[in-house]
Amino acid sequence: MKVYFIGAGPGAPDLITLRGARVLSECRLILYAGSLVPEAVLEHAHPDAERFNTAGMHLQEQVDLYRRAQREQLNVARVHSGDPAIYGATAEQMRALRDLGIGYEVVPGVSSFTASAAVLGTELTRPGVTQTIILTRVSGRASAVPEREQLPGLAAHGASLCLFLGGNQLPGIVADLLSAYPPETPVALVQRATQPDERQHVSTLERLLSEIRVSEWALTTMLIVSPALGRVEDLEDASRLYDPAYAHRFRRAQPAGDES
Ligand SMILES: C[S@@+](CC[C@H](N)C(=O)[O-])C[C@H]1O[C@@H](n2cnc3c(N)ncnc32)[C@H](O)[C@@H]1O
Repeated sequence: MKVYFIGAGPGAPDLITLRGARVLSECRLILYAGSLVPEAVLEHAHPDAERFNTAGMHLQEQVDLYRRAQREQLNVARVHSGDPAIYGATAEQMRALRDLGIGYEVVPGVSSFTASAAVLGTELTRPGVTQTIILTRVSGRASAVPEREQLPGLAAHGASLCLFLGGNQLPGIVADLLSAYPPETPVALVQRATQPDERQHVSTLERLLSEIRVSEWALTTMLIVSPALGRVEDLEDASRLYDPAYAHRFRRAQPAGDES
């Protein structure tokens, strides 16, 4: 038997990977993070599978289920939102599985930061503007962010920055971002990206808080701040990759004026 950590993606049932859906359909015991993974994603599950929502369970209760699965030789689907490698609290489960001698495998998923960029219809990297994406969060009650990774220091890079788990701390976050990003820097909030009740708000750092009701964005919100947002029409900073005059291993350069 084996435990499969499966990335559910951002919530739309068709944004789980083909592999994730197949493995989910083959497991008879399912643990899923119900606070973030909508029931709709479990439409891929085997109809006879037993399902446990881990939102109300502590680690030992989950480990007890892994033990039971080991006794009964059942494969387990452990379904996490987005990609399990990002704020998934998988490390402690993996440690317990190793102690029990249970093997595990990770099936990656579409993270909410790329899903948010997708629903905004934007790219997070632009040549000469920013080529770096920072994924971060602010400290929560369960997990502290190390001092060297505090937001003002990260903001000093001026890169695209995707902030998880911060919807309930927006005023402090915006103040920290404004300590380094120019006030007119574009910022977007995306809530429940790809789900039926998805919402988004695009603004600038200086205007954001005056335009929204902060309390409405407390849960399942991705904040993206980036000088690259909202620059779709700006060809000044286009990559040269598809420039006809640019040659590379797979394409010869096309002389100027040659439209053949
Ligand atoms: C515990 S973290 C899990 C992140 C997940 N592993 C991922 O890769 O997206 C939960 C946070 O992810 C973000 N998140 C998850 N799903 C989201 C969605 N559909 N839309 C916007 N943000 C989402 C929110 O910031 C939320 O507070």
